[in-house]
Amino acid sequence: MTALQLAIRHKSFARADGELNAIENIEIEIAENEFVAVLGPSGCGKTTMLQIAAGLDNDYAGSARYADGLKDRMAYVFQSPTLLPWRTVRQNIELVFSNPQAHADDIASVLEAVGLAGSEDIYPLQLSMGMQRRASLARAFVLRPQLLLMDEPFVSLDEPLAARLRDLLQTMLAGNPASVLFVTHDWREALSLADRLIFLSPGPARITGELAVSLSRRQRSNPAELQSFRDANEHLFQSG
Ligand SMILES: Nc1ncnc2c1ncn2[C@@H]1O[C@H](COP(=O)(O)OP(=O)(O)OP(=O)(O)O)[C@@H](O)[C@H]1O
Ligand SMILES: [Mg+2]
Repeated sequence: MTALQLAIRHKSFARADGELNAIENIEIEIAENEFVAVLGPSGCGKTTMLQIAAGLDNDYAGSARYADGLKDRMAYVFQSPTLLPWRTVRQNIELVFSNPQAHADDIASVLEAVGLAGSEDIYPLQLSMGMQRRASLARAFVLRPQLLLMDEPFVSLDEPLAARLRDLLQTMLAGNPASVLFVTHDWREALSLADRLIFLSPGPARITGELAVSLSRRQRSNPAELQSFRDANEHLFQSG
């Protein structure tokens, strides 16, 4: 079954120096519980595409269709962590629930999982960027989303921590399957996580290729396997 059907015929921004064409004809269908990673150069339109997929930007030609009820079970991890500076870490996460007391155990366990146990009562401006990212991830995971939009969620983290959080994402998805649209610059990350890759051109973004990732869980954790899978499909990785 299709979870999300995104058809962006045209998206532009009006700017003082004229109109900027950001996206030209992107069609993406994500099946239920499929993990799709989008790779493309900086500034090509990836965040713009996610904002449209999230329903935050309606000023475009095209459509975004969701399976029944899916949009109400959506979580979005923004490219920059967006925490309210006047709320503590715990309060920022409580905000996603109308009745946070009923979710106190879930909140405590997700904070533990992202390594923020002990930092619950700290305000975001007192956190490092990596800690703010982890708090944003906790806020997305605690919702048990069925549609997860992620915009370079592990960027600027050191590699061991990024690897731990990728594992956490996979564990979360194993317990709580979701359809995922995941933007990254990191081809290794994309191959280690996704069922399918979509490659975008420099802006205005259009799709230059797609690739099903036919790697086992074991192969995905082996850098040499990732490299040889890339080598076998190098033309796609070069296409952006
Ligand atoms: N609100 C806006 N107003 C005007 N132009 C915008 C706006 N948002 C994005 N753009 C422009 O649209 C293009 C695509 O931007 P977008 O943020 O989607 O790129 P991106 O692929 O996410 O880049 P990065 O990998 O660096 O995050 C860029 O040229 C950007 O300057
Ligand atoms: Mg972006």
